[in-house]
Amino acid sequence: MCGIVGYIGKNPAVPVLLNGLKKLEYRGYDSAGVAVIDGGKLVLNRSVGKLHMLEGKINGYVHNGTIGIGHTRWATHGRPSDNNSHPHTDCTGKIAAVHNGIIENYLELKEWLEKEGHVFSSETDTEVLPHLVEQFYQGDLFEAVKQMTAKLRGSYATVVLAEDNPDTLVAARKDNPLIVGIGDGEYFFASDIPAVISYTRKIIVLEDGEIAVLTREGVTIYQDGRQVEKEIQTITWDTKAAEKGGYPHFMIKEICEQPRALRDTLSGRIAPDYSGVDLKEFNLTTEDVKKFRKVAIVACGTAYHAGIVGKYAMEKMLRLPVEVDIASEFRYRDPLIDSDTLVVIISQSGETADTLAALRLAKEKDARVVAITNVVGSSIAREADHVIYTWAGPEIAVASTKAYITQLIGIYLLTLFLGKHLGTIKPDEVSQILHYIYRLPNQAQEVLDTLNEQLDRMATVFKKWEDTFFVGRGLDYAVAMEGSLKLKEISYVHAEAYAAGELKHGTLALIVKDVPVLALCTQDDVFEKTVSNIKEIKAREAHVIGVAFQGNKEIHKVVDEVVYIPETLPLLAPVLTVIPLQMLAYYAAAHRNCDVDQPRNLAKSVTVE
Ligand code: AGP
Repeated sequence: MCGIVGYIGKNPAVPVLLNGLKKLEYRGYDSAGVAVIDGGKLVLNRSVGKLHMLEGKINGYVHNGTIGIGHTRWATHGRPSDNNSHPHTDCTGKIAAVHNGIIENYLELKEWLEKEGHVFSSETDTEVLPHLVEQFYQGDLFEAVKQMTAKLRGSYATVVLAEDNPDTLVAARKDNPLIVGIGDGEYFFASDIPAVISYTRKIIVLEDGEIAVLTREGVTIYQDGRQVEKEIQTITWDTKAAEKGGYPHFMIKEICEQPRALRDTLSGRIAPDYSGVDLKEFNLTTEDVKKFRKVAIVACGTAYHAGIVGKYAMEKMLRLPVEVDIASEFRYRDPLIDSDTLVVIISQSGETADTLAALRLAKEKDARVVAITNVVGSSIAREADHVIYTWAGPEIAVASTKAYITQLIGIYLLTLFLGKHLGTIKPDEVSQILHYIYRLPNQAQEVLDTLNEQLDRMATVFKKWEDTFFVGRGLDYAVAMEGSLKLKEISYVHAEAYAAGELKHGTLALIVKDVPVLALCTQDDVFEKTVSNIKEIKAREAHVIGVAFQGNKEIHKVVDEVVYIPETLPLLAPVLTVIPLQMLAYYAAAHRNCDVDQPRNLAKSVTVE
């Protein structure tokens, strides 16, 4: 999501910046901009829409400046517009900054800066950056950026350009990628390697907390104010592979981005003392919440599966009836909803035709509509009464992965928010759940780091079969549905998800020797019941793979192999259990030489009925 390019060298900067931004288009964006120092003046060009719109604006004016910064923006704070596009400038228009990430304390900083006399002109969090640099600038750009970073909470990769420093670019990063490209008498900043690979294969990867200064002579990198030596890496990938960050497919890249996506979605939303959730964008009062008599969750595909997790979580914690519907069913079944119903619409794209129609129907019936969506300014985001954005970043592979996992976070946060207003969740429970939620990004990373080889090997079992089964109870059943969808949509291996207790009512007839069955076993309250179902499956000699928490001492006794995930609350298990299932599907599809990112017959965004 969002792309950054910075350039200092001997050539005109604008073509280099535009070329670099084009190479970052795969990240998704809805506006773009560049700033260069030309004839001693900082010149800014920005445009909503694709890069050709920006090129159209620049057209006819040849910039000769050899230093500049560029950005493609994927809207988070503030809708896509010329004015919200980066680079943003300070009050004087002499300092410009581009930024990826989310500045969590921007409202507080903005308030302080306004008191200091700064005037803001956009709806973005980013605009505080050039104003902070202006506030601290006393002739040394590095010092000003250093002081700026000390004020920031949240995540950022940022590059700053100042008219008074025509031979310097300064960048800083925290929880957002940024690299330095080292060319022949020219230097680059970029959020990813493809932006620079046609100029140089020598790069330095910046680490969190580092500040890098590019001049016409070279690069200097600082950590905690001290200069540090960094290794220069030589990139050997071809240009196409570089767009996927070296991964063979977008799907696996997006699976691996999940810890970051979780972190961004949680960013600024957990109170520092874990006492509650902070959904700034969400203006429901206790009075509004107490009016709700039921919740209706509506979505399609993977988002619908996230909704099923929502049903289990909300009914347990809110003690309200929760219905979950597939949007194409909901819209034609004359649903019983009214002004006392909270309708939760879940959609990655925010444009799915049936889901949008369901939203409109809910509004016609006077229900209150909350959307959980990934795309700012999408139709669903615009038409809902309230929006909880998932900050997964653009999802390119058709198979939804990081969007699902962040939808789950959206659901948990919404549930905790409602539960606090309703008084159905005790304060110490809220705090405990939030502590566990806070650990999820690191635990997701642990899953990725430790299970890769095991799942790659297991996929060779699944890839050979025409029929496979995913079973579980409660929240495990909800995840089983998502796991089976992943496997069938990209590997074309037929997979069925069953509530474990339901097998013997029909499907057990399909369980034969060696058929692969994946059994999710993370829900303590039904663990023994699931084990009994596994025994029924094993009695038919199926090959059973269990998914359980690391501390589970029983599961290995009843299954053929176990995938262990880090311990969390059973309520939050779906966030971690789904990752091995996504990886299993990915490797099965890759081993079967399927078109992983664009499976047959499927589209990323289903804008037709
Ligand atoms: C699954 O991997 C899919 N890409 C698909 O089921 C998707 O979740 C569904 O089409 C809904 O899309 P949306 O979230 O953009 O509304």
